[in-house]
Amino acid sequence: MSEIPHAEETVAVAVAEPGYVLEARNVSKHFTVRGPLGRTSVVRAVEDATVSLKPGQILALVGESGSGKTTLARMLARFHEPTRGEILLRGEPIGGSRRARRAYHSEVQLIFQDPFGSLNPLHRVRYNLDRALRLHQPGLTAAGREQRMTELLERVSLTPAAEIAAKFPHELSGGQRQRVVIARALAVEPKVLLGDEPISMLDVSIRLEMLNLLQRLRTEDGMALLYITHDIAGARYLCDEIAVMYAGQMVESGPKEEVIAAPQHPYTKLLIESSPDPERGVGDRDELFAGAGELGEPPSLIDPPTGCRFHPRCPFAMRECAVEAPPRTELGDGHWAKCWLHAKGRAGELAETTHAAATAARRETLQGAS
Ligand SMILES: Nc1ncnc2c1ncn2[C@@H]1O[C@H](COP(=O)(O)OP(=O)(O)OP(=O)(O)O)[C@@H](O)[C@H]1O
Ligand code: SF4
Ligand SMILES: [Mg+2]
Repeated sequence: MSEIPHAEETVAVAVAEPGYVLEARNVSKHFTVRGPLGRTSVVRAVEDATVSLKPGQILALVGESGSGKTTLARMLARFHEPTRGEILLRGEPIGGSRRARRAYHSEVQLIFQDPFGSLNPLHRVRYNLDRALRLHQPGLTAAGREQRMTELLERVSLTPAAEIAAKFPHELSGGQRQRVVIARALAVEPKVLLGDEPISMLDVSIRLEMLNLLQRLRTEDGMALLYITHDIAGARYLCDEIAVMYAGQMVESGPKEEVIAAPQHPYTKLLIESSPDPERGVGDRDELFAGAGELGEPPSLIDPPTGCRFHPRCPFAMRECAVEAPPRTELGDGHWAKCWLHAKGRAGELAETTHAAATAARRETLQGAS
């Protein structure tokens, strides 16, 4: 095990990382908000996050509500400019011109949680798809676009394609609408799909089918996918790697089997232990963070806790946890965690107890001390 310096201490130089199609390096996003009395505050929605995607790789980004997942995806989709850090496409910093933006969006597409909100309700499916094809495939003739549209709809198992193309979004089921959104994203032949909880609003009965569709796109097209989810079981089914966010920061990342079987951060451990049994299938959003809910409200991102942001809720917390942010510890195979337990030689405790038992023991100690 070796430690690397805090990300703040590293020099942010755009050195091409071979093999990555998309990277966010040490990105932060701060929003300035105005309170009722006109006072401004800064919401530190994402702080110093790094993610990278290789072609054909599926990375799940998990974390409870408000942890910064959507903000990170929006930075990757260029809907938000990072306050700090940079986004690299195939190792190159991205340009800011209109042309560069269009080129970027023909490689990186974002799929939102709500398929209804992302289609123009006044227009039929045909128009919604044709518009994307006109914009990103200007060389195609009208007949070429029609043919491509049929191929795209069939690709996402919406048949007969001509019938679906003639419908308005409200005439489709939620699952059909999300397939249209995926077909529209595919119209530009992207190299990366950013899925922001793309199946969470769909009926449980079709979620597995949608996961299989995403899996197929990666296998057949070598597309990389950032899959934002609240659902550890879905992440386990679909993904190669898992990255965990807490209160705007990434706290652990690594190969899914390792992260799920032996989480190396107390927050990841809590998420995994409180997630429903994978045998029961893809779970419900509210169920998944039940364990985290027991710990009380997540911290404020305007005035986040000092040191490790998880320390007010962590049963393993030590004195230094409240004072200094933990360093990142490399654990091999691309697995890393930011937790003082590693630096203090106490990481073994994570495997020896459950989060619930550690919390109960902590409570007893605190009660005994008071
Ligand atoms: N435009 C904005 N202006 C101010 N604050 C924002 C803005 N967008 C997001 N935030 C804040 O940033 C934090 C992170 O929000 P974000 O939507 O990224 O979380 P999330 O992990 O996607 O949550 P969820 O799981 O509920 O979708 C939240 O505190 C949110 O209120
Ligand atoms: S650094 Fe400390 S408070 Fe943070 S997760 Fe690790 S043990 Fe808990
Ligand atoms: Mg979100």
